[in-house]
Amino acid sequence: MLSFVVLGHSYPRFLKRNHSSTFTSPWLNASQWVRKSSTRMTLESALETKPLIDLRNKKALVTGIANNKSIAYGIAQALREAGAELGITYLPVNERVQDKIKQLTEPLEPSLFIPCDVQKPNDLDHLVSQIQSNWSQLDILVHCLAFANKEDLVGEFSKTSKSGFELALNVSAYSLIELCGKTKHLMKPGSSILTMTYLGAEKVVPNYNVMGVAKAALEASVRYLASEMGPDGIRVNAISAGPIRTLASSAIGGIMDMINHVEKNAPLRRTVTQREVGNTAAFLLSHASSGITGQVIYVDAGYQIMGAAMNH
Ligand SMILES: NC(=O)c1ccc[n+]([C@@H]2O[C@H](COP(=O)([O-])OP(=O)(O)OC[C@H]3O[C@@H](n4cnc5c(N)ncnc54)[C@H](O)[C@@H]3O)[C@@H](O)[C@H]2O)c1
Repeated sequence: MLSFVVLGHSYPRFLKRNHSSTFTSPWLNASQWVRKSSTRMTLESALETKPLIDLRNKKALVTGIANNKSIAYGIAQALREAGAELGITYLPVNERVQDKIKQLTEPLEPSLFIPCDVQKPNDLDHLVSQIQSNWSQLDILVHCLAFANKEDLVGEFSKTSKSGFELALNVSAYSLIELCGKTKHLMKPGSSILTMTYLGAEKVVPNYNVMGVAKAALEASVRYLASEMGPDGIRVNAISAGPIRTLASSAIGGIMDMINHVEKNAPLRRTVTQREVGNTAAFLLSHASSGITGQVIYVDAGYQIMGAAMNH
C-alpha cells in the first residue's frame, strides 16, 4: 500500500478512509491516530475495509454502452468495482446488438437491463417505472450518449440542416435535462449525476461542428441543473474527455488526426483511456467529491491547458 509520513508515522494515503462514526475525515483521522496510538489497530483495519470511493449500496444507472470501446463501459466497470449495483440501458438497434451488449455487461451483474432510445418518450417512461418498481431509488445517473448525422460532422458548419441541428441537440443535450426531470423524485440527498462533454463545446475543433453546439448546450444545462438540484443535495457534473476512438467518435471527420495531435501536444503526450474516464467518474459520483457540483472536469491528459502546438 502507498503510504506517507505524518509526524514520523506512516499513514495510508487519502484514498482509504475509516468508517468509524468517531471520525469523519482522513485528515482528522491522521491526527487522532497519532494522538491515540491505542486506536491504531482499529483504525488501520477500518482503513483497510472501506475505500474513500465507496459505492456499495448505491444504485447506478449507466446509459450509452454500445460496445467494449464505449466510455460508458469504462465508467460501468469503475462503478461496479467500487461496489455499485448497476442498471444498464442500451439503444435498441436490433436483437444482435442487444445480445452483444448483454453478453458484454453480464460480468458486471446489472440488476436492470433496459432498452432506451432517448428520442422515444415511452422508452423513458418505461425506464423510470422500471427503476421505481425494482429499485425505488436512484443514487447515480450516468448520461453518456450523443448523436449527430455524419454529414453534420464534416465540412462547413453553415451547411448544418435544421433537422440535423434539432436531432443533435435533442439526443445529446436535451436528453440529460429530460432524464434528470423524470428521475429526480427518485434521488435522495447525496445522489450524483454525470454527463460527458468535449473541448469542442468551448473551442473550435475541426469537423466537430454541430456537436460542439450540442456540447455547449449540455455544459450550460449541467450548470442550470446543478443550481436547481443542489438544494436537494443532488450534484450534477460533466467530464470533458480527451479524444478516444469509439463508435461515436469514428463518425467525426478526421478523429484520428485529432488523436495524433493530442498525443503529440498534450502534457502527458498521449490521450486518455475509457478506464481513466471511468475512474474520475467514480470519484465524481461518490461522496469523495461531495463539494463539487456544476463543474466540467477535464480528463484529457492535460491537453486543454495548451495554448499552442508544441514544436517537434
Ligand atoms: N470518444 C470521444 O473521443 C469522446 C470525447 C469526449 C466526450 N465524448 C462523449 O462521450 C459520450 C459517449 O460516447 P462514446 O465516445 O463512448 O461513443 P459510443 O458510440 O460508445 O457511445 C455513444 C452512445 O450513445 C448512444 N445513443 C445514441 N443515440 C441514442 C439515443 N437516441 N438514445 C439512447 N442512446 C443513444 C449509442 O447507442 C451509444 O451507446 C458521448 O456523449 C460523447 O460525445 C466522447
